Amino acid sequence: MSLENPANVLGPLQVAGCEVASSKIGEVISLDSGNDQKINSFSLIPHEFFEDVESKWKGRIKRIHIDDVFTAVQKAAEALHIAVAEDFVPVVSRIKATLAPLGGPRGEISYAREHEAVWFKGKRFTPNLWAGSPGEEQIKQLRHALDSKGKKVGEEWFTTPKVEAALTRYHEANAKAIERVLEILRELATELHYNINILVFSSTLLVIAKALFAHASEGRRRRWVFPTLAESNGFEVDVKSLDTIHGMKIVGLSPYWFHIAEGVVRNDVDMQSLFILTGPNGGGKSSLLRSICAAALLGICGLMVPAESAVIPYFDSITLHMKSYDSPADKKSSFQVCYWLVLLSDVHP
Ligand SMILES: Nc1ncnc2c1ncn2[C@@H]1O[C@H](COP(=O)(O)OP(=O)(O)OP(=O)(O)O)[C@@H](O)[C@H]1O
Ligand SMILES: [Mg+2]
Repeated sequence: MSLENPANVLGPLQVAGCEVASSKIGEVISLDSGNDQKINSFSLIPHEFFEDVESKWKGRIKRIHIDDVFTAVQKAAEALHIAVAEDFVPVVSRIKATLAPLGGPRGEISYAREHEAVWFKGKRFTPNLWAGSPGEEQIKQLRHALDSKGKKVGEEWFTTPKVEAALTRYHEANAKAIERVLEILRELATELHYNINILVFSSTLLVIAKALFAHASEGRRRRWVFPTLAESNGFEVDVKSLDTIHGMKIVGLSPYWFHIAEGVVRNDVDMQSLFILTGPNGGGKSSLLRSICAAALLGICGLMVPAESAVIPYFDSITLHMKSYDSPADKKSSFQVCYWLVLLSDVHP
């Protein structure tokens, strides 16, 4: 059965439902990752400010449905930029022009993230010291910035009535935009509610398809192979003939977490029944057992296995029991982990 044609996995009614749902989504949701909805950007204002406020709603809904609120936000951002340029820039320039020794006043236009505001941040700066100098008019307008509860934010943060008004306008415009986006999304959710089963089914199918695609592309990159599986008569598997004829034969098996370039040692496995595996500590016993189990599991799931070729019979259960733990990520066997811990416990401060 091919998954390319939805009619192979869904009935005609469901396919029609899918088309209705997908066209409704396509009409409303923005799919070009907001190319026509760039976040505002102005040289004088830190970009993170606009990013934090506008990324909450931009790029979700097609611009056509939110054009008026979008334009209102843009205009408010422009007005904020003008207010900042008029009220803060002369103050910053005045401070920069001062031939103060190191440790003199400093000032910049900053983003106060916690308050989602753009304010003037002055270090060792006292507004009244500056009377009588260029920029005096703007310095006179500076007042301490207040938080949403009307409390002074700190000694270093200043703003002006004009900047505050522009900030309020900008935030209000964004609040309206968020409200509109939510309203449209809610309407869409209500409309899609009738197709919810189809949507859940299709998205599950999509997740499975994506996982299969990722497995196949990564498997090919690592040169894994599809194993020869047990013959089956419909759903009845002829276990007897497989057990007697094939057993499990894997050539060039490698631990699945290794990449070819990592100097992997490949093993051949010819397993008919019980076998005993021995070898020195760190010799690769646990890794081989894990690899065999992984290959068996991947194989019976119809997936690729980390080997050059493989014949995998039908197993109705796979069990792996490890009594002590090793750490493949550190390239350490159980014995090496144990030895390492003993060494560490012997180190006293
Ligand atoms: N096939 C392999 N190719 C390359 N390196 C391997 C392979 N198998 C194991 N190794 C490396 O050797 C390390 C130790 O292997 P493993 O833990 O399987 O040894 P062990 O025989 O189980 O040792 P112990 O007796 O201490 O439990 C692994 O973490 C891995 O880095
Ligand atoms: Mg081991």
